[in-house]
Amino acid sequence: MSKTPADLKAEILRLTREYSALMHKANRPGIENAAAFVPGKTTVPYAGRVFTEDEVEAAVGSTLDFWLTLGPEGEAFERELAALLGVKHSLLVNSGSSANLVAFATFTTHKLPPHKRIQPGDEVITVAAGFPTTVSPIIQLGAVPVFLDNDPATGNIRAEQLESAYVAGKTKAVMIAHALGNPFDLGALLEFCKKYDLWLVEDNCDALGCTYSMPIERAKALGFMQNSPGIPSNGTHITRFTGTWGDISTQSFYPPHHLTMGEGGAVNIIHRPPLKTYAESFRDWGRDCWCASGKDDTCGKRFGWQLGELPKGYDHKYIYSHLGYNLKPLDPQAAIGRQQLKKLPPFIEARKENWEILRAGLADLEHVFEFTLPTHATAWIPPSKRGAAAGSSFENAFAWDSTGCRTDASWFGFMLRVKSSAPFSHTDLARHLDEKKIGNRMFFGGNLLKQPVFVQLKKDRPHAFRVVADNPGADEIMHRALFLGTYPGLSKDMLNYEIETIRNFVTEKTKA
Ligand SMILES: Cc1ncc(COP(=O)(O)O)c(C=O)c1O
Repeated sequence: MSKTPADLKAEILRLTREYSALMHKANRPGIENAAAFVPGKTTVPYAGRVFTEDEVEAAVGSTLDFWLTLGPEGEAFERELAALLGVKHSLLVNSGSSANLVAFATFTTHKLPPHKRIQPGDEVITVAAGFPTTVSPIIQLGAVPVFLDNDPATGNIRAEQLESAYVAGKTKAVMIAHALGNPFDLGALLEFCKKYDLWLVEDNCDALGCTYSMPIERAKALGFMQNSPGIPSNGTHITRFTGTWGDISTQSFYPPHHLTMGEGGAVNIIHRPPLKTYAESFRDWGRDCWCASGKDDTCGKRFGWQLGELPKGYDHKYIYSHLGYNLKPLDPQAAIGRQQLKKLPPFIEARKENWEILRAGLADLEHVFEFTLPTHATAWIPPSKRGAAAGSSFENAFAWDSTGCRTDASWFGFMLRVKSSAPFSHTDLARHLDEKKIGNRMFFGGNLLKQPVFVQLKKDRPHAFRVVADNPGADEIMHRALFLGTYPGLSKDMLNYEIETIRNFVTEKTKA
C-alpha cells in the first residue's frame, strides 16, 4: 500500500528527531552539554541557541506544510506570548530592531490625538550607552532623541536626570532598554511619564522573563492592580514582567536572547488595544486593512470604505494609511519559537543561577572589578551572610534601597567593570579571554554618541539629537565594562573554567 502524505510526514519527523538528537548535542541546556566540554579547547560562547529535537521537528514540520508566510504558527505564537506576559497583544516581526521600528512608528500615526502623536522635531528621551537600534528609529522617523547618562552600576538610565531632559510641548516619549536584563527603574520612569503624559517604550529585547516589584500602593497609584500571570502575590508588592509596564515593549528572538527563532522579534501592546491596529499597519506595508495572511474581508466591508481621496468602494486590502514596511517573519520561525516558549521558565532560571555562580566565584576580586548590581540593589550579599529570612532567594541575595522596589533579573550577561586602578584594562581582559576561548562582549555600542554614525550625524545634522550634559557613566561603561555569558547552554564546568581563568589572570597581573 502506498504511503499517504501524513505517513511520510510522520516518518520524516521521526527521522528528524533522530538526526537532531545525534547532531545537536552541543546545543542542549548546560546540564546535558557538560560531557562535551574540554577546558581551553572547547569554545565557551557568551550566548547561543539552546534547543532540542522539538525545535528542529517544529521547523521541518512547518516547512513541509509550506504555508511559509506568517500564518497559523505565527498567530498561535502571538497568542501564547501575549498570554504568558499578560499583555493585550503581541505582534511578531522579523527582528528586535524591526520591533523597535514598529513600536516607535506606532506613535507617529495621525490616528492618535494631536497631543499624543509624535511628529518630526518632537523629542524622545533615551540613554547614551546601549544598543543602537533602540535609538535609531527615533531619528529615522524624524524625532529627536535626547540622551541621558547611564548609571554604570546598573547599566540603566540615571532616572534622577529625567526632569532635566523634559521640554514642555516637545517631549513626547521615553524609549529605553532594560540593560542586559537588568530592569530599569520602572517606578521612577512610570511616574515621570504619568506626570507629563508621555509614552513609555520598554525595549525588552534582553529581558524576557525579568520582573519588577513595586509596593502595592505605589503600583495602584500608577494603575497596576495585579501581578503578571503565574506570579503569586506576596501581599505587599505588585510583581510584573518587564515589558508589561509601559505602553509598548519589544522583544528580540535572535539566538543570544532568552528564546530564539533565528531571526525574529515581537511588539507587545501592553494596555491599549487600538495601538495594535496601528502597529500592525506599520508592520504590514502601512495598509489600513487588518486581515490576517490568507484571509479576505475580516472587517465585513472590504468594498465599503471611502478613505483619503480614493473612490468609495476601493478594495480595503489596498488602502494605505501609513508609510509602512513589511517586517513579518516566516511561519516556520514562529513554529520554532512556540517550542522555545515552552522552555522559557527553565531558561529564565538558568540565567539567574549562572549569574550567581559567576558573582560568587569572582566575589573576592573586588580590588580590581566592580560588579553590576540589579536596579534598586545597593550591595550583593555573599551566600554565607544571607539569613534564612522570609522572601525569595533573589531578595535575600542583595541589600535594597529604601524605595521598596525590587528587581529580579534573568540576566542577558554578567557585566563587570575593570577598576581604573587595576593593572590591566578591559581590553586586556577581553583579549585574554578570547585566547582562552571564553566568549565575551562589551556593552553593545558603549557610549553611542562616540560611535562613527553619531559623530558623522553631528556634522551632517547637528540638531538630529540632543545631549543634556556630559555622560560620564556611559563613558565609564565604554572604557571599562565587559560581559560574560549567562545563557542556559553554559554548564557548571564551563562557568568554573571562566572563573578560574579570570582569577589566574588577575593573580598574574597583580603580582607582575
Ligand atoms: C537592547 C536591544 N535592543 C534591540 C536589539 C536588536 O535585536 P535584533 O538583533 O533582533 O534586531 C538588541 C540586540 O541584541 C538589543 O540588545
